Amino acid sequence: MQRLMLQRLIQGAACRVIEAVQRYGPKTVTIAGCTFVVTPDVFNPKFFVTSGLMARHLALRPTDEVLDVGTGSGIQAIVAAQQAQRVVAIDVNPEAVVCARANCERNEVDNVTVLQGDLFEPLTAGERFDVIIFTPPYMEGPVTTLLSRALNDPGKALARRFFAEARNHLEPGGSLLVLYSSIADHEEVLEIAAEHGWQHEQIAARKMLLETYFIYRMVPLRAGFKR
Ligand SMILES: C[S@@+](CC[C@H](N)C(=O)[O-])C[C@H]1O[C@@H](n2cnc3c(N)ncnc32)[C@H](O)[C@@H]1O
Repeated sequence: MQRLMLQRLIQGAACRVIEAVQRYGPKTVTIAGCTFVVTPDVFNPKFFVTSGLMARHLALRPTDEVLDVGTGSGIQAIVAAQQAQRVVAIDVNPEAVVCARANCERNEVDNVTVLQGDLFEPLTAGERFDVIIFTPPYMEGPVTTLLSRALNDPGKALARRFFAEARNHLEPGGSLLVLYSSIADHEEVLEIAAEHGWQHEQIAARKMLLETYFIYRMVPLRAGFKR
């Protein structure tokens, strides 16, 4: 309990530092051959290796229909759009939606639809995808600002909802691509995923100074990994 409170305090402070860096630091970044301009209240791939790491591991098929949940700058949606047939990108942050749309134009992709809303809520019932990409917020700090919502998921409440609802939007044979970090107890998130009927395989791991990032491909239990 004490450990969790301390973790929340430290991660709340980290969030304020990140907010300052994003406000006064560079706003333009080039990753995977695409250029993104990112406003201060939107998760900026310039300052987080997770964005580039996921973008480099998408490996989609030309026929794939892809959903990018929590698109932020639009980085995953735009890289996916260059490989796949069609992409729908969602973010709860209205500034991220504006930013992602502008970045789609900037990178001349015309097969991405960017929608604003909470998780899967903007989709029509039964709308399904071959791949669903999600790099969730994973720190324990409080959600008080637009940017803190991109960083923090206290109690893993958002992760739980994601794993509970994702199946309703996945085609048979489809899979999730999820990134998580060792500083946010990645093993607990795998347990939460399993409780909601997902099995995983690790497709990438990258160790940084204080944390290791993992990318998992997940499919419904008993479906087997076909890709
Ligand atoms: C860690 S950032 C990842 C951004 C981007 N996908 C990337 O790789 O750079 C998480 C994103 O999820 C969005 N987000 C947080 N809660 C959400 C929710 N309930 N529904 C949709 N998006 C959400 C945040 O606004 C943020 O843009």
